Amino acid sequence: MAFCFARMFKPGDETLITNMDHEANRPPWRLLEQLGFVVNVVDIHPDTITLDFEDFKSKLSDKTKVFAINWAANSCGTITDVKKFIVEAHKYGAITIVGFVHYAPHKIIDVKDIDTDILQCSTYKYFGPHLGVTYSKKEIGDKLNSTRVQAYDNTQMPLKLETGTLAMELVNGAAEAIKFIADAGKHHMDQLEDEVKEYSGLRKEIVAGMKAFEYYEDELADALRVKMKDIKDSKFTVRERVLQEHLQFHSELKG
Ligand SMILES: Cc1ncc(COP(=O)(O)O)c(C=O)c1O
Repeated sequence: MAFCFARMFKPGDETLITNMDHEANRPPWRLLEQLGFVVNVVDIHPDTITLDFEDFKSKLSDKTKVFAINWAANSCGTITDVKKFIVEAHKYGAITIVGFVHYAPHKIIDVKDIDTDILQCSTYKYFGPHLGVTYSKKEIGDKLNSTRVQAYDNTQMPLKLETGTLAMELVNGAAEAIKFIADAGKHHMDQLEDEVKEYSGLRKEIVAGMKAFEYYEDELADALRVKMKDIKDSKFTVRERVLQEHLQFHSELKG
């Protein structure tokens, strides 16, 4: 994806990434620095372990062509209100890319609601194989100049995002993972019918499945929160310690 943008924009253009991202989401954009792009980074608010919205706004400008952000951070568990960031980035015409890898197993995703241009994930986080998946708005996807085998049958979306032959076994595994979620939805439909009545067909079953997981996980998370209060650690709470390690890691990277 980063190389698509390298071909679409010119040296001096800016990319905005965040200090709360999984490292997988940063080096591809950092590579653009070597091609003359400016890569800016949104800082973390140390008190709340959330992205600093004011810092984000101060680094956004007409030069910002791409803004890459994660929906949930696996380093510290923070869930970001990505919609708020996307609205702002769009005011400057930046293309937004949301990584929802850590969010996908836990919550229902409404891509129209957050209005991101691109959304990316790995299906292994929700019972599938290690296969990257991309959603893109049609008008953005049509503009992407991707790296691919130059063949007559892969010039259009979505196949132009494939670098070579499709990994059919992974694609089928990903489809099975979706069926597994839908199956969980069918099993719990009698309790969830009311909550999913606005949907129909496979979508209804998938949403019910995700809701069933969410309720189950909420109970586990509540139990964990109660227990964590009893863990004695004179210096840090677990969350503070994670932040410390995170900040140290990034300062070493900068150094
Ligand atoms: C938030 C987040 N982004 C990206 C990744 C990396 O995904 P992949 O291993 O498919 O590159 C992970 C993996 O744990 C993640 O949690």
